[in-house]
Amino acid sequence: ATIETGSFTWRSPSNIALVKYWGKRGEQLPANPSLSFTLDTCATTTTLHFEKREQPVSGFGFDLLFEGKAREDFKPKINSFFGRIESYMPFLRHYHFTIETSNSFPHSSGIASSASGMSALALCLMSMEKEMSPGMPEEHFYRKASFLARLGSGSACRSIEGGLVVWGRHPGIMGSTDLYGVSYPGEVHPVFQTYQDTILLVDRGEKQVSSTAGHGLMHGHPFAERRFVQAGENLSALQQVLKAGDMARFTEIVESEALTLHAMMMTGKPYFMLMSPATLQVIRKIWDFRKRSGSNVCFTLDAGANVHVLYPEEEKKAVMEFINNELVAYCEKGYYICDRIGEGAVSL
Ligand code: PMV
Repeated sequence: ATIETGSFTWRSPSNIALVKYWGKRGEQLPANPSLSFTLDTCATTTTLHFEKREQPVSGFGFDLLFEGKAREDFKPKINSFFGRIESYMPFLRHYHFTIETSNSFPHSSGIASSASGMSALALCLMSMEKEMSPGMPEEHFYRKASFLARLGSGSACRSIEGGLVVWGRHPGIMGSTDLYGVSYPGEVHPVFQTYQDTILLVDRGEKQVSSTAGHGLMHGHPFAERRFVQAGENLSALQQVLKAGDMARFTEIVESEALTLHAMMMTGKPYFMLMSPATLQVIRKIWDFRKRSGSNVCFTLDAGANVHVLYPEEEKKAVMEFINNELVAYCEKGYYICDRIGEGAVSL
């Protein structure tokens, strides 16, 4: 069946990795397995309008509106995404698209929108494909959406399902694959099912190094192979921790993963640093607070200076008090976002 004209809308969340993906092989395949929490508040909403063309023409036809404004500068990224997925979605050239997209978090907050943005767009395209192939099994729909999202931005494949998501083949995790993200199939203690993530925006500037360039620097990196093995080891250890509800070991693994990610950046050729002085001060404050209060609060980082503060829901009051008293001073304009584990993408 073909379809003439219409639109689909999806809201897709961001995610935060506990075991980090850093380094790739082949066509957007991960050099090591990773595991993330799907977020709730930080999300992209995308509406894909489509109209069948009289004739397929060369090149992809689309307009892009970001927060209501036409953005030519975002188009090359979408264009190369369409190029990468075309062999899996042969109908692309037969349509003209208008992509209307907006984020729940402020632009240039230093929060990466590639995971939520690419997953939302992949889901809209899958809704089109589903309309053309009625009876498509739900499992196929979500797997292929994640597969496509991966081709847009690796970590985007972990933004389709809710809860904990694993991407990358790991012998100890049934069903895990390099091709798409899957809902973590292992047992998860209730304490880890309602984890909170308060994102401190310590540096709202643009990233100095794109994640594409960062992944690239893992080629020929002196510590790369050992690091890829370590990610698998940490993932195995984390499986036990998640099951047991062991927050102390969780902290050790998650903080070490964050620091290792940044250590890889600092020890590459060329080397670079994405942490800012405020990042370090926040980390020290978190360690100090944990020591004096016995809290289970810990941090993680993505490829930037912002700090994700992770803690169990039952500690929310105490940790927010600590954040407001001691950490807000390090946030640009006092800005932070209260997020938590979410349920994955939804069609609107
Ligand atoms: O999806 P990318 O190519 O932007 O890579 C993101 C990598 C990290 O955010 C640093 C880690 C991760 O696993 O999400």
